[in-house]
Amino acid sequence: EKGGYDYFMLKEIAEQPRAVADTLLGRIDAAGSLTLDEIRIPATELREADKVVVVACGTAYHAGLIAKYAVEHWARIPCEVELASEFRYRDPILDHRTLVIAVSQSGETMDTLMALRHAREQGARVLAVCNTNGSTIPRESDAVLYTHAGPEVAVASTKAFLTQLVACYLLALYLAQVRGAKWGDEVRAVIRDLAGIAEEVERVLETMEPVRELARSLAAKNTVLFLGRHVGYPVALEGALKLKELAYMHAEGFAAGELKHGPIALIEPGVPVVVVVPSPRGRSLLHDKIVSNIQEIRARGALTIVIAEEGDESVVPYADHLVRVPATPVLLQPMVSTVPLQVFACELATARGNEVDQPRNLAKSVTVE
Ligand code: F6R
Repeated sequence: EKGGYDYFMLKEIAEQPRAVADTLLGRIDAAGSLTLDEIRIPATELREADKVVVVACGTAYHAGLIAKYAVEHWARIPCEVELASEFRYRDPILDHRTLVIAVSQSGETMDTLMALRHAREQGARVLAVCNTNGSTIPRESDAVLYTHAGPEVAVASTKAFLTQLVACYLLALYLAQVRGAKWGDEVRAVIRDLAGIAEEVERVLETMEPVRELARSLAAKNTVLFLGRHVGYPVALEGALKLKELAYMHAEGFAAGELKHGPIALIEPGVPVVVVVPSPRGRSLLHDKIVSNIQEIRARGALTIVIAEEGDESVVPYADHLVRVPATPVLLQPMVSTVPLQVFACELATARGNEVDQPRNLAKSVTVE
């Protein structure tokens, strides 16, 4: 049932290109427009929405953090992202013009369920992004956009995360479409590139041997830090979460710009720091800033592990280890840059003798608050 892989997690990492393609299937028409009629929220309501709030836990929350960039950039609707376990306790401001997106692989996470119940009681519309047909969260929501990752067995979420990103991007673009946002060249290109992303993920998977080797060489470390900016920041958080749950190592993700506000004090000789470098195109200011962050930490002895686009030569002098990912539009980079972090965590867990599919103290679906 593991299809020749040692662990479900490895199988599920390998299934990501298919999962991504399946989640796009039938949702983009020949003219390059989105057809999401399956969301039965009337277009008039989507046009009137004045705020989007994403609620989720863990890895799904990280997908939500990335979705915020997409919703605000393409649909131009203010978007908040909140941990489901915190949401209802702060008396959030919600009404019928609020679109709440509840992201959940299992569809059974109690914190997320309680958050969406609270949102509906306040009159908000709730749309579930979910991987499990007929589960509780979609049943209790006004609408659902299913991810088609297929069953995810390993406790650590991998393919579900990538498909959550796809679904959230589709939603963001769909919101832009129904609201009549100007369909610029950028958006058209993004839809085209989304369709090609499965192949890019496949290419990343083919180049993972050096990442595995690197992971094994770090098995005796105590701490790994992760840095990112823009959409690379939630990717850093996700990389750290994977490492905590699988390798039982201290791992933290930071926004690279926050380094000098405290975390840089953690840098001492030999500490591995994974840096997710944004595309040098488009947001070049952002890119230059992270290159200087890499220089800063390296000057303090950090072992720099740099994830950067193919063709980005500016990082080469400062990378102790360089992991290449294909060039993508800025907002799509998380779909390729997350993959090496999954492989990294899985291999480190194996090297440390941990149970990959069933990490200690964790359950696949968390049905208590
Ligand atoms: C991490 C992980 C968890 C889940 C979280 C939400 O690898 O698997 O953090 O992402 O428990 O679960 P769902 O998506 O089922 O609501």
